[in-house]
Amino acid sequence: MSEPAIANLYSEQRTFPPPESFAAQANANDPSIYEEAEADPEGWWAQHARQLRWMRDFDTVLEWTPPHAKWFIGGELNVADNCLDRHVDAGYGEQIAFYWEGEPGDTRALSYAELKDEVSRFANALRGLGVGKGDRVAIYLPMIPELPVAMLACARIGAIHSVVFAGFSSQALVDRVDDADARVVITADGAYRKGNVVPLKESTDKAIAATDRIETSIVVRRTGAEVDMQAGRDHWYHELVSGQSTECPAEPMDAEDVLYILYTSGTTGKPKGIVHTTGGYLTHVAATQRLVFDLKADSDVYWCAADIGWVTGHSYIVYGPLACRATSVLYEGAPDYPGKDRWWEIANRYGVTILYTAPTAIRAFMKWGAEYPQEHDLSSIRLLGSVGEPINPEAWMWYHQHIGGGNAPVVDTWWQTETGGIMITPLPGITHAKPGSAMVPFPGVKPVVVDDAGEPVPRGSGGYLTLQRPWPGMMRTLWGDDERYRHTYWSSFGPDVYFAGDGAKLDEDGHIWLLGRVDDVMNVSGHRISTTEVESALVDHPKVAEAAVTGRKDELTGEAIVAFVTLRGAEEGNDELAAELREHVAERIGKLARPANVLFTPDLPKTRSGKIMRRLLKDIAEGRELGDVSTLANADIVEELSKSSAGGD
Ligand code: WT7
Repeated sequence: MSEPAIANLYSEQRTFPPPESFAAQANANDPSIYEEAEADPEGWWAQHARQLRWMRDFDTVLEWTPPHAKWFIGGELNVADNCLDRHVDAGYGEQIAFYWEGEPGDTRALSYAELKDEVSRFANALRGLGVGKGDRVAIYLPMIPELPVAMLACARIGAIHSVVFAGFSSQALVDRVDDADARVVITADGAYRKGNVVPLKESTDKAIAATDRIETSIVVRRTGAEVDMQAGRDHWYHELVSGQSTECPAEPMDAEDVLYILYTSGTTGKPKGIVHTTGGYLTHVAATQRLVFDLKADSDVYWCAADIGWVTGHSYIVYGPLACRATSVLYEGAPDYPGKDRWWEIANRYGVTILYTAPTAIRAFMKWGAEYPQEHDLSSIRLLGSVGEPINPEAWMWYHQHIGGGNAPVVDTWWQTETGGIMITPLPGITHAKPGSAMVPFPGVKPVVVDDAGEPVPRGSGGYLTLQRPWPGMMRTLWGDDERYRHTYWSSFGPDVYFAGDGAKLDEDGHIWLLGRVDDVMNVSGHRISTTEVESALVDHPKVAEAAVTGRKDELTGEAIVAFVTLRGAEEGNDELAAELREHVAERIGKLARPANVLFTPDLPKTRSGKIMRRLLKDIAEGRELGDVSTLANADIVEELSKSSAGGD
């Protein structure tokens, strides 16, 4: 179908009901589940919890003392036991858990029995190194099978993992290790990225030198790159696991014991350690995996093409799919390496039936052209998912047409690191989806769009997205900072109202459309980066006096980072220094935080009380007409800035 035809379709405001054949076989196809969940949310979640294997049954479903929730009180279970042993015990040991595909083309298929054995061996090795229940373990690995193995090994012995995205800098690793007080780090000799080797071990060594917490590092051999191994401190993964027993009893965990910490950006420079626990989290990700992705353990080949370093990967590559006994694809590399059809070649070879990715990836595929997916038979795909940022209707339509063959339902799933699992989404066998809308709450979830006063807005209006009923996968606190937890999420509209930080509107049918962040958090390619984080990285450069950062709309990445910088003393801004500053930010935080533009200015626009006018900077960055600036302390600077931003850097 040609592009103009697609554009017409979306201006018609079409809705896409589930194809009849899809609805007929769907795990959820009876709209009455919404009423059932609404009538008794706790009973609804408890019913999902009971599909897991409990070592001790829970006595109470929920204890809610806002803003703290406890789910499935008194219950004991182990996440690794549920994700592995439960299936092996039921006779599914031979089923493939992961078809892993390395970037250079090497592959590995891991059955549930093999995965269980590998996890048990590594869990025994960790125990042998003195790691026990409640200890924090940092994991800094690329997308190789050892990453889920390491997470599950921690879960098996009750250690708390803190996965740090391998694209993050060594400084980011230091910050996270320090905050969680991790004593062990698991890394690799290197990571493949578009044919190059990223020196992960080197970054880890730098991090270890910058913190006094790490006593032990475990190194997976992936690229064969030469690395420096320090005797007594650094251990090769393969040496540690060889000779370990495959018997490793899973630690009974309280439903409320911590499963993991995952750091995410907030409105200040310091990342927040989101804390997820055991019983509620696993219940939530398993229920959504089954109902939102319509997962059929016996026939689907599921592929969530995110990185496990983000929450999407935690919940929908590792825990949700494994809890549901999925067969998944796990891909190490970039979508355009060695060719722009790499994903489609993989999808075809494994017969992928369900694909979950982000709008930024879809827009890149659109730009590359439909010929790449067309070269491959993708007729096995029966369901598509989107996550990470609002999906523009055009991208939705392209995804539906060119990847889904015009008949696979598309589920646009809204959630956050903090929510643990999917919160607002169509159900593919029930919902009549509208391109661009996340539609309706998952059964049992209660989102309310409110105005400044916290009052629900009427249909047809916009406001702030809040969640007004606890859910099992919700974060329990911020690691080591409960005060920040209360303040950030539960103080804007009342002590029992969760403020998500997103704007949203209700359409005339009451369907929810997400509008993006309303705070100082940017969303670049579906990744959260705070403006202050980038600003601190910039002012940390010796030549920078002051910096203000804002996001501007970008066709491909959703938002792109624009930095306004004033320099110290007689320093001169030029292209070279701009490049140096962009690199400096990449070094400090990671490549994903590298500003797209650096604009030098002798001064930043400020109010008379000295507050930087970010809104104005955003207008400048996006080339908008500027309103009245007469209240500024330094109005003249604005004109100069608007002129210079036209050229970019
Ligand atoms: C923020 C959360 C959830 C996993 C990936 C990101 C934005 C996420 C959607 C969506 C519109 C979305 C929100 C949210 N977001 N999904 N379907 N439609 N916006 O997790 O890094 O915690 O970011 O991503 O702004 O607050 P995260």
